[in-house]
Amino acid sequence: MASDSNSRFNLGVLTVSDTGASGERAVDGSGNAICEIMAAEGYALALRDVVADEVPQISEKLREWCDGGNVDLILTTGGTGLGPRDVTPEATRVVLDIEAPGIGEAMRMQTLQFTPFAMLSRATAGVRSGCLIVNLPGSEKAVRETLGVAMPALVHGLEMVKGWRTHATP
Ligand code: MTE
Repeated sequence: MASDSNSRFNLGVLTVSDTGASGERAVDGSGNAICEIMAAEGYALALRDVVADEVPQISEKLREWCDGGNVDLILTTGGTGLGPRDVTPEATRVVLDIEAPGIGEAMRMQTLQFTPFAMLSRATAGVRSGCLIVNLPGSEKAVRETLGVAMPALVHGLEMVKGWRTHATP
């Protein structure tokens, strides 16, 4: 459900896809789904881009966005699987100040009910420069399922990242 207070947080959406970056894939379905879902929740889309499945490109973009101070939350989509080109978790991990593995663990655990393939995603999450980064898998279906799991914890997590709160209120 949309919350006015969620508009405090600026969102960056980074699609990681070789075909998307080369222009071979015309429609960024998973990126579009993230934007649609997050807009309905009241988050403000500030930055959006597509990069190839290359650690330097992904890491550089994450560093630029986090350190630029214009986004509070970055959702990546794609490149979390077991293929030779799936490097998003590695590219994310090298830029993190702290890792938050529980977000990926929860997404995998809770969406196993929809597909056993949920266990094939290595998505991780964490914080850099006051920005929360969360990896999501690359299909639109997977985005809808996993983002639904992460959503209820995002605001509390973001408030912790910002130092606005340190624990849950009863
Ligand atoms: N998680 C959920 N909830 N639903 C899905 O359909 N697809 C899986 C998995 N996670 C899926 C999912 C599949 S098929 C793969 S290969 C991995 O995510 C990795 O996807 P990626 O490499 O596109 O990130």
